Amino acid sequence: MHEMTTLYEKIGGAEKVRQLVEAFYPKVQAHPLLKPLFPEQIRPVMEKQYMFLTQFLGGPPLYTEKYGHPMLRARHLPFPITPSRANAWLECMDQAMDEAGITGQEREEFFSRLVIAAHHMINQPEPASE
Ligand code: HEM
Repeated sequence: MHEMTTLYEKIGGAEKVRQLVEAFYPKVQAHPLLKPLFPEQIRPVMEKQYMFLTQFLGGPPLYTEKYGHPMLRARHLPFPITPSRANAWLECMDQAMDEAGITGQEREEFFSRLVIAAHHMINQPEPASE
């Protein structure tokens, strides 16, 4: 029989997604370009991201079951997302993947999908430097 293994299973399932989210948000909260966009009470955001990434990787559709269609670009419109902020987000994610021990081909695949998603979220040009 032809075997289908999701990226979710390949990276290590719920435990790995949890580790990744736990590693990611402290970096976001410490980043000068990202920090001002996020609430101090970060737990609810972490929980949503855990649910979203689970389904993004082909795991159970936790986010959609609770919140409906993700419409992520629309949900990000209230926040000024510039190219630099998208890059900052991706840098934090890259470091979080190191910390969570996500490696190999599955990391490459996962990360390249996040690059596309992050670029899709850009909704503001870079501010002119003074
Ligand atoms: C490109 C840079 C990005 C920035 C600056 C950014 C920033 C934010 C901010 C400020 C929030 C709202 C936090 C709050 O609830 O107050 C948010 C929510 C969220 N972000 Fe991002 N984000 C980015 C990219 C992404 C990407 C690439 C993904 C997914 C692959 C993602 C997934 C989510 C999810 C699932 C939520 C929760 C949405 C909800 O309210 O239900 N974000 N993000």
